Amino acid sequence: MCGIVGYIGPREAYPILIEGLKKLEYRGYDSAGVAMLSPAGLKVEKAKGEIAVLETRVGNNVPPGSTGIGHTRWATHGAPSDINAHPHCGCSQEFAVVHNGIIENYLSLRQWLQEEGHRFSSETDTEVLAHLVEHYFTDDLLQAVSQAVKQVEGSFAMVAICEQERDKLVCARKDSPLVIGLGEGENYIASDVPAFLNRTRRIYILEDGELAVVTASVVQVFSANGRLVQKEINEVTWEAGEAEKGGYPHFMLKEIMEQPRALRDTTRGRLINEGRDINLAELALTPEQCRNIERIFIVACGTAYHAGLVGKYAMEKILRLPVEVDLASEFRYRDPLLDPNTLVLVISQSGETADTLAALRLARERGNPVLAITNVVGSSVAREAEKVLYTWAGPEIAVASTKAYLTQLLSLYMLTLYLGKQRGILDGQSLAEMGTALYRLPSQVESILGREAELREISDYLAPWESVFFVGRNVDYAVAMEGALKLKEISYIHAEAYASGELKHGTLALIVDGIPVIALATQGAVLDKSLSNIKEIKARCGHVICFAREGEINFAREVDRVFSLPAAPDIFMPILSVVPLQLLAYYTAVARACPVDKPRNLAKSVTVE
Ligand code: AGP
Repeated sequence: MCGIVGYIGPREAYPILIEGLKKLEYRGYDSAGVAMLSPAGLKVEKAKGEIAVLETRVGNNVPPGSTGIGHTRWATHGAPSDINAHPHCGCSQEFAVVHNGIIENYLSLRQWLQEEGHRFSSETDTEVLAHLVEHYFTDDLLQAVSQAVKQVEGSFAMVAICEQERDKLVCARKDSPLVIGLGEGENYIASDVPAFLNRTRRIYILEDGELAVVTASVVQVFSANGRLVQKEINEVTWEAGEAEKGGYPHFMLKEIMEQPRALRDTTRGRLINEGRDINLAELALTPEQCRNIERIFIVACGTAYHAGLVGKYAMEKILRLPVEVDLASEFRYRDPLLDPNTLVLVISQSGETADTLAALRLARERGNPVLAITNVVGSSVAREAEKVLYTWAGPEIAVASTKAYLTQLLSLYMLTLYLGKQRGILDGQSLAEMGTALYRLPSQVESILGREAELREISDYLAPWESVFFVGRNVDYAVAMEGALKLKEISYIHAEAYASGELKHGTLALIVDGIPVIALATQGAVLDKSLSNIKEIKARCGHVICFAREGEINFAREVDRVFSLPAAPDIFMPILSVVPLQLLAYYTAVARACPVDKPRNLAKSVTVE
């Protein structure tokens, strides 16, 4: 996620902005920039790369000025580059804006502004904000910002400065966080408190729809309709390290809790009319190209591979196309059978996994179209694939992938609905039924996250064991594999996923008295079969913890513990059933005093074979 910093007061802004941006580096970024209102006018310095690159570029020519804004960019629209870095200006170079969020309607706004005579220089969605502010400005920056953000569909946390009103910062927020730090004769704005926590602990938290005018001595907050809002001062009690994690003890827990937002961000501009329609025009796939696909080959590693397994079930069920899923490390060396009408779909959070990149290159050498689902704009996978569907999960810091996995599933579902629509398989009603079910998922995930105490309790049972089994049928089996990996990689418990129907072919020999078995039973079509398998396990005194859809838990007496899940269509249940498994792995690892965010022997991105 992007990082925003603003300062206004008696001191030179530049060092304060740079210091604040460095404290937001944990959020992940690919470029940085600052803008100051210097005596000689608005000065903007920005550069692709780390903040150190920006500092080197500025060198000793530090722009003077005591009013300024800064930004670290996590690219969503437009690859990392100097020109795409924030701050962005309007035509007149008298306005500068920094922004965190996604402007869904930026293309139509950009076109309208161009017709009004505005000239754009970047590929970003953010630049339309600067031109909108410029367009509406007469003599009041707050009014200009207020009118500008009313045109925007999507999410934003933004700060604007302008030459004509040098004594203020103006900011606005919707769906992306923004806080105001209250100093003595100086004030700060930031995406997150770590940016200025060493300078003040007294903050205003801007709410959705609110705007603020921040001067060195006064902060005024306004509602969207211009009414002055009396804000309560919050005292931040966190220490800096905690603040980077949003107050959570680990990045992994923070990222698990961020999943509803990550899902909503990933659907922005894509799942439209509250899910009644799907728009993936960004893929620039013609209906003919969609119809010509005869087979899909999904290739990935680790958690991304497990997402691909879920995608297989969804695509085969809805598109009635054969879908093969392979580990990239196998695919690249087994001379795979690829015909010209096979769409190769690579999935990678980092976009830098060596095996996945090699698989992508092999597919391209064979002349196959490659579509990538990745979380990092400008990553190697993103640059080398023909088509890219970005998961807008924001930077994922913990080694164990959680929000990226969930947004990979969502992206696979959206791609499936889109292909179904383009291939004429899904009529309007079917599309709407499934799309609205997808649209509801973030709220349903929120309801599960609210029950983390139940999972912390269940984890107490798992923690002492050195072996745990995960079982499921159909798409539950794919989720069982992901649940097992989560537990393995952060708690160091040997966890194994098994197709429930396979237990009697060997694994049942390992079921001993009390051994924990996580049983997923969310698939209506095979619920009775799942119950039979659970009974097999119970007959051998296994300790069964069952995850099933609420209302379908008529076998609660057959198991040792049930965790009920909100109801969604069978094929979308993985987005709901994996969340408790993530929390189970997390709390078990905490109970075993494991280094949750950085497990032994593992790296966040495996860029070597
Ligand atoms: C997931 O929790 C692991 N950290 C690992 O399996 C990861 O999913 C795998 O290395 C693939 O990474 P990628 O998605 O960045 O390609």
